[in-house]
Amino acid sequence: MNGSGDCMTMLTPLGRSTLMVPRLGVGAMTWGEPTGLARWHPAKLAYGGAHGFDEEKRALEASIAGGVTLFDTAAMYSGGAAERRLGELAQEKAVLIATKFPGSFFFRTADLPKELDASLARLQRTSVELYQHHFPTNAKAIPRLMELMADAVAAGKVRAVGVSNYSAQQMRLAHAVLADRGIALASNQVEYSLLHRQPEINGVLESCRELGVTLIAYQPLAGGALTGKYAAGARPAGVFRRFMKNFRGSGLEAIAPVVALLREIGARYGKSPAQVALRWLIENEHILPIPGAKNSRQAADNAGALIFHLTPAEIEALDRATLAWRG
Ligand SMILES: NC(=O)c1ccc[n+]([C@@H]2O[C@H](COP(=O)([O-])OP(=O)(O)OC[C@H]3O[C@@H](n4cnc5c(N)ncnc54)[C@H](OP(=O)(O)O)[C@@H]3O)[C@@H](O)[C@H]2O)c1
Repeated sequence: MNGSGDCMTMLTPLGRSTLMVPRLGVGAMTWGEPTGLARWHPAKLAYGGAHGFDEEKRALEASIAGGVTLFDTAAMYSGGAAERRLGELAQEKAVLIATKFPGSFFFRTADLPKELDASLARLQRTSVELYQHHFPTNAKAIPRLMELMADAVAAGKVRAVGVSNYSAQQMRLAHAVLADRGIALASNQVEYSLLHRQPEINGVLESCRELGVTLIAYQPLAGGALTGKYAAGARPAGVFRRFMKNFRGSGLEAIAPVVALLREIGARYGKSPAQVALRWLIENEHILPIPGAKNSRQAADNAGALIFHLTPAEIEALDRATLAWRG
């Protein structure tokens, strides 16, 4: 076990870009206070929102103190309120911001520069460290989008380029277009956790390895199911989350053995199930998880995943225990 501060502060390049990042980020999707229709944003409905300005501020500070300086948001989250909040909180702080476009489903490719300027205004910045295309559109649009991304890098508004929810094939296309402009595709942000292992079989993880692209793992705690605090008699807050596979019907019963194993392994290191679940991802050098944190306790707990190691036998045991979630 390595309990030194070294791995807390260790920064590595994001993919083959020049952007140096910690091995863990924070998902700030539930932050901010939306108004109007944005109050019904799926993130708010699913998770019941974060715990308000002061607690979000403490979560940001606890993350930074734990060496987690990368924060992920999106123009779409709560109609821009999540970006606005992160922008307020990050003032004067040495943080790296990853955001995504578009802000709505009525997006046209040519709108990218306008969307980027709107995000920068909400974030109160002149540039963003990572700019990601949130959802793939038809394959024909990808080359033009990546050309516009490359223009944004050339203009100094974007440091590294990423995509999200891209298939292996879409990723390869984006990678090739950017490579022609001398830019590395830095990351592909997809769902990946012990309870969602599809990237291992749909070619995305393999393509990330081959192309040197970091796989940013969203929902790395399976929406909280891997924290061990939910069970058949203790269901989560938030309307949508109750309908997610792991929380409805017998979902929580099915994952009980996985949580028991996380606890058993965690007990050896004084770590929580969430920390072990995150560590399982971090042990793969191509993966960077971004757990959502609603408060400073969760932020500090998640940051603790940076300062220990799992043995190959423990990684293997977790792999085997979650084979059913691979297909
Ligand atoms: N690109 C995309 O399409 C996409 C899609 C979804 C998410 N994302 C990104 O991924 C990030 C993370 O995903 P997610 O928030 O959906 O799922 P997640 O990280 O798997 O789960 C986060 C939830 O788990 C609970 N939690 C977190 N840390 C905890 C801890 N240490 N102990 C106990 N409970 C803890 C909190 O909810 P409770 O306290 O209410 O249980 C929190 O809201 C988002 O913030 C967003 O940036 C991206």
